[in-house]
Amino acid sequence: MGRVKSFFSRIFKSWAAALEKPSKNKNVLKKDIPFPAWMLGVLISLSVLTALVAEFGFEKNFIAGSGLFVIIWIYAAFSFIKTEKEMNPSKILLSGLVIVSAVLMTQFAKSREISMYFVFTPAAASLLNFLVSRRVAESAALLISLIVSFIYLGNFEVFFISFVGGLGAMAFPRRIIKRSDIFLNALSIFVFLLAANFALQLLGIHSSNLIYDGIRAPFLVSALTFIFIISFFPLFEWVFNLTSDVRLIELGDFNHPLLKKLMIEAPGTYHHSLMVAALAEAAAVSINCNSLLARVGAYYHDVGKIGKAQYFIENQLEGNAHETLKPEMSALVILSHVKEGVKLAAEAGVDECVLDFIAQHHGTTIVQYFFRKAAVSGGASDETIYRYPGPLPQTRETAIVMLADSVEAACRSIEDPSFENIKDTVHKIINNYFASGQLNECPITLKNIQKIGDVFTKTLISIHHIRLDYSDADKPSAEKQQ
Ligand SMILES: [Fe+2]
Ligand SMILES: [Fe+2]
Repeated sequence: MGRVKSFFSRIFKSWAAALEKPSKNKNVLKKDIPFPAWMLGVLISLSVLTALVAEFGFEKNFIAGSGLFVIIWIYAAFSFIKTEKEMNPSKILLSGLVIVSAVLMTQFAKSREISMYFVFTPAAASLLNFLVSRRVAESAALLISLIVSFIYLGNFEVFFISFVGGLGAMAFPRRIIKRSDIFLNALSIFVFLLAANFALQLLGIHSSNLIYDGIRAPFLVSALTFIFIISFFPLFEWVFNLTSDVRLIELGDFNHPLLKKLMIEAPGTYHHSLMVAALAEAAAVSINCNSLLARVGAYYHDVGKIGKAQYFIENQLEGNAHETLKPEMSALVILSHVKEGVKLAAEAGVDECVLDFIAQHHGTTIVQYFFRKAAVSGGASDETIYRYPGPLPQTRETAIVMLADSVEAACRSIEDPSFENIKDTVHKIINNYFASGQLNECPITLKNIQKIGDVFTKTLISIHHIRLDYSDADKPSAEKQQ
């Protein structure tokens, strides 16, 4: 099993690496998705075309009609997908496979004369919503419904039932965190499908027996979606190397061996990571990105300090381990925590989306303290020796953790943590990161940065908990209130 997983991981990794290389070919999606658009287009077109031609027949005009429909449909598909910012090759491949499978299964169901109210859109939308993103799931629901209605000769009923079923799959709950959420998801699909069937019946459009098809089909669709998701969700997550919320919650458990090790061997770093997590989570909520991912990423961002904990200020209880080292040697030790962290976490089986936080949390910044120390003491002054290798943060979540990390460390050393001082420090640090281009490769907006700064200030004020001085006040129980 392990071999199969590493086989798929290798394919996706080398695929992504190959695509990142500059190519002469123009790729329309290059900016948003590192995937060769033509390859995905051809694969999906051929599959959908096959399904349609199998349905309508092999006469020239039917092939031409189906071909034109597929071209229009592919245009719509890429227009939707282009709007999704955070995709990767395995997410794109899964989305393509799910859409094509739903189409082929509908075609198969029709050929076996299974009721047209029996739609596969809810199962596809649920899977994509929980493993890829809500936006992709919405687009898939619409795209599948379009083809399904085409297969049923433009039947509006099928389109409506299929699309509403897809919406039901995304309506509730927003995330799968526990197993009961999958049941609630099935219930939501049932309610939406039932409502759609009743609406059609009341309008006199429903072409079948309401009791027989209007209730039986929604029940069967939601029950089978429940069985499908509960049985295959972990398999899809594993094969496509994707990380669901359930997996993130597992990784965020403090009983995880790596977090336990961090707590025991580098308690200062562990505490710092918890603070960074609190800041990152609050900031992620404020700009509407994945707060769970930001929190878990923050827990792991400095695990590379395990083993060399005494070289990092937050763990130094007695004496400074750098006193006997040259600045360039000190920088080497500090810089190594990024590479070391990625290695340690990968060995502990931590998912790739969390490894990104470790690799990107310092971007390509310079270890300023030792760079300046070298300049003063006449040590090696080559800037590259003191610079983190990167890469720069690629997502809004990793960018948040980079900023939270720096802000947390800086605010610790403020002697007078007043509101103004904290606010100034936060804004100075964020401006520096922005001006030096560290945020250039992630889809973060100026509005986001503004909000993140405000949330950091607010959270840090409450963390540093400035105590009010009641000494002059005429309050007998002032001490008890603190
Ligand atoms: Fe770090
Ligand atoms: Fe850190």
